[in-house]
Amino acid sequence: MRFGYFDDARREYVITTPRTPLPWINYLGCEDFFTLLSNTAGGYCFYRDARLRRLTRYRYNNCPLDSEGFRVYIKDGDTVWNPGWQPVQTELDSYSCRHGLGYTVIEGEKDGVGARQELFVPKGELCLLIRLTVSNNCPVKRKLQVFPYLEFCLWDAMDDSSNFQRNLSIGEVEVKDPAIYHKTEYRERRDHYAVFWANRPFDGFDTSREAFIGTYGSPARPQAVFGGGCTGSITHGWQPIAAEQFDLTLGPGDSESIIFGLGYIENPGDEKWESTGVINKKKALAMMARFAADDAFDAALEELRQYWEELLSGYQLYSGAQKLDRMVNVWNQYQCMVTFNMSRSASYFESGMGRGMGFRDSCQDLLGFVHLIPDRARERILDIAATQFPDGSAYHQYQPLTKKGNTAMGSGFNDDPLWLIAGADAYLRETGDWSILDEPVPFDNDPALAKPLLEHLLRSFRYTSSHLGPHGLPLIGRADWNDCLNLNCFSEHPGESFQITGPSEGPVAESVFIAGMFVKYGRALADICRHRGMDVSYMMDAVAAMEASVLDAGWDGDWFRRAFDAAGHVVGGKECREGQIFIEPQGMCVMAGIGKETGQAAAALESVKERLDTPFGIVLLDPPYSRYYLELGEIGSYPPGYKENAAVFCHNNPWIVCAEAELGHGDRAFEVYRRFAPAYIEDISEIHRTEPYVYSQMIAGKDAPDFGEAKNSWLTGTTAWSFVAISQAILGIKPTLDGLLIAPCIPASVKSYSVKRRFRGAVYVITVENPLGVQHGVRELYVNGAAHEPGVIPVQKAGSTVSIRVIMG
Ligand code: BGC
Ligand code: NOJ
Repeated sequence: MRFGYFDDARREYVITTPRTPLPWINYLGCEDFFTLLSNTAGGYCFYRDARLRRLTRYRYNNCPLDSEGFRVYIKDGDTVWNPGWQPVQTELDSYSCRHGLGYTVIEGEKDGVGARQELFVPKGELCLLIRLTVSNNCPVKRKLQVFPYLEFCLWDAMDDSSNFQRNLSIGEVEVKDPAIYHKTEYRERRDHYAVFWANRPFDGFDTSREAFIGTYGSPARPQAVFGGGCTGSITHGWQPIAAEQFDLTLGPGDSESIIFGLGYIENPGDEKWESTGVINKKKALAMMARFAADDAFDAALEELRQYWEELLSGYQLYSGAQKLDRMVNVWNQYQCMVTFNMSRSASYFESGMGRGMGFRDSCQDLLGFVHLIPDRARERILDIAATQFPDGSAYHQYQPLTKKGNTAMGSGFNDDPLWLIAGADAYLRETGDWSILDEPVPFDNDPALAKPLLEHLLRSFRYTSSHLGPHGLPLIGRADWNDCLNLNCFSEHPGESFQITGPSEGPVAESVFIAGMFVKYGRALADICRHRGMDVSYMMDAVAAMEASVLDAGWDGDWFRRAFDAAGHVVGGKECREGQIFIEPQGMCVMAGIGKETGQAAAALESVKERLDTPFGIVLLDPPYSRYYLELGEIGSYPPGYKENAAVFCHNNPWIVCAEAELGHGDRAFEVYRRFAPAYIEDISEIHRTEPYVYSQMIAGKDAPDFGEAKNSWLTGTTAWSFVAISQAILGIKPTLDGLLIAPCIPASVKSYSVKRRFRGAVYVITVENPLGVQHGVRELYVNGAAHEPGVIPVQKAGSTVSIRVIMG
């Protein structure tokens, strides 16, 4: 069942009922000011950091779901309704929500009155704009009242949701028509406040939640709206809110719009006050003035549209396959931007308080983002590298506001260092900007310890090669990519974090997955160093030795093993009762080319197909763990079929796509892609439940009672890897250090397609023809009409348009 449809021409997903299986959200803002917004106008805002600078409140785990947001109440006689249905839930005569690229439009109609809420964060601004347009579609005059409402958060979301003994006494606001200023803690150490304004004077306001909603009231039945209107309350402590009232009289066919804004303002320490206790509103007033008129609102929205048009023009596919084109051209790239911005911090499944930027997560996000805005990717790589320790290991997370490593979490995740190579390598291949390697970057955020980025990459390599276990495989540390395989943890007490319990190192537990990474990214680093004229023989020796160890101790007969635990027992082998085969090493080792010549790679992928395939994607392992095993950690804490315990953990499905493509299996590569790509499963939204326009982290596996149900949408490494899988592995447009390589690996049934791809300043218009119906192999290649040897096309002149014709066979 569907709950909406893709409007490809407008690059929107149009939701046609407010009763989606879960709130279906969008992200507004792509620089410093962000808003999460659901299809019923639920959500919240923050400046840069969802934990440390939260502007509006949101209660996770609330009942009813999605209660807080940017709601507008419309009062028409005795009827009260919201254009997005929530929170009053008055039945609407019509409803739609259009989630577009960085903006959302929600429209509702009730008894001949239409209301449209357009929301976006203008480029370069620290505010959310909301335009409400109310229309009278009836032949008679209508008197209406409208009330926008939101609840402020006292800045630190964690503290806000726990430290009530203090927080219920500190809330402060200031009101100056038509704006409400939230200035809690501004009187002491903060130099920032939030402001909610309208572009016309209001007819009433409230800043106390108790006054507007009622002590025992609810947002579904605010006392002020259902009663006599706003009360003019000024809150002292308790819960500061912004509610405003506007009385409208609309003649037949009339419509009126009001522009609201929620802004974030910072003032220098010596310019905080206008007079004693009165905040300096200069910047806020200037912001309000910039968006006072409809044409300014329209122009800013148009600028945002242009921005996305330009960004997406860097990779456009024309395949004739509607679902594929919409994934590649719009939604996958859009989600890559969101994961780049958020890492795993704030979604409807990530509270914004738990995790900041993840080291491995952000490195992988770069893989799908680097072609969009290479300069921001560059900056990110340097930020991440600055959280590396001098020995090459790394902080596992850092806060976006401070860019400092998170000491509570610390280090010890032994895959982390190698992901830095992956990110830097992707950047170099995309841009050819070798200067990044010479950029001085601190270790442990200490500028005194700065060394060129290249040295960071070398230390990543060295960290792995110098931390090997008894089988010559890398030590796993706290965990590798699979956060739940905690082989040195041995946690016996409820509530202990699997991430930080136990020693961060153990001398025995080894990871075959990290070994695969070492081969793949070790080679990539060697290529980079070779380019710089360095001697890489020691690297290639270490890589060769690792490959041999994988094929020896890491090979189980029909697939790659997963690990050795702290007692030296195999994890992910036939001798195991549960967890006999894991997906991760099959994907990573085959992507690294291990066993490609000698047959193990093909056998491993065959085993994946036999043992792990399901109609909803490939599960992470099989058979699932039926109980908690002390020696394995968090993985067995999940019921069978969920999360790392045998869900379809989408992130590593594209690894299998890439691995299949590595072996030239185009039919199978696409089949794997198709099963978990959101646009292809739109029709089963009632089972899948999360947004059909973005990837989710997991889909309940075959062993779960609700097989096929997804969770954790939006913030997942699936996004970047899926874009790599489709754009590079399948469609075959691969940036290399020396130029663009076109090496498609497609279903035999695909006859042709073309791709427009920006690369190092030139535009490549690539057409691929497949007259013989093969799955891979390039027979002829033409560059601007001239025959060219199949292989890498050298970098073309910036500013030029290059036409490439590829004939497979
Ligand atoms: C989840 C993992 C996640 C980890 C992060 C675990 O509970 O299952 O997916 O990476 O927490 O801390
Ligand atoms: C989600 C985490 O964000 C990611 O870092 C990890 O690799 C996967 N879970 C698997 O555990």
